[in-house]
Amino acid sequence: METYSVGYLVGSLAKASINRKLARALTKLAPKHLVMHEIPIGELPLYSYDYDKDFPEVARKFKQAIADVDAVLFVTPEYNRSIPGALKNAIDWASRPYGHNSFARKPSGLIGTSPGSIGTAVAQQQLRGVLCFCNSPLMNTVEAYIQFKPGLIDDDDNVTDESTRQFLHNYLKEYIAFIQRVLTVHPRKPV
Ligand code: FNR
Repeated sequence: METYSVGYLVGSLAKASINRKLARALTKLAPKHLVMHEIPIGELPLYSYDYDKDFPEVARKFKQAIADVDAVLFVTPEYNRSIPGALKNAIDWASRPYGHNSFARKPSGLIGTSPGSIGTAVAQQQLRGVLCFCNSPLMNTVEAYIQFKPGLIDDDDNVTDESTRQFLHNYLKEYIAFIQRVLTVHPRKPV
């Protein structure tokens, strides 16, 4: 099987982000054909179309990082039953300038964790709509709403609960199969 590169965007800027912890745990759990790394969003200024004629270096690098991967994975918290502002800002940067939408035909997946029992479900539903508009083929199932409990992921980014570990492993297996299907229909253009 071919190896796929996945850039993950963490929707939290917090140093102790549980979503970044989840992303790192996924990186460890990933099958060897899925190579994952973070595409940082924290240094992006607030987007305005005033930048469209001349994107700053940080935004150009951000768009290039998305262009360089086979697929993106959004690992996001839910803030006030919605998408965190920092993540929406990053998506707005990536989607512009008009005609240069980084997400077009780029396979994507969603996952998130929160201490609450519905584990980011509302934010993810909203993010689905945004990614649909951005023309990103998005994995429908498996849905992954992870309730975070203290100790769920240890200091070495291992998932301590066996059923959650199995669930995440299966999620990644489905995700790699999804990426493969999308890229069979829409092969990547050379970058
Ligand atoms: C939250 N939190 C939260 N949790 C949730 O399940 N639904 C929600 O709507 C919100 N709203 C919310 C707003 C704001 C501004 C903050 C800071 C937090 C709690 C949230 O799930 C918790 O802080 C997680 O630790 C956030 O994930 P990261 O940032 O640690 O990855």
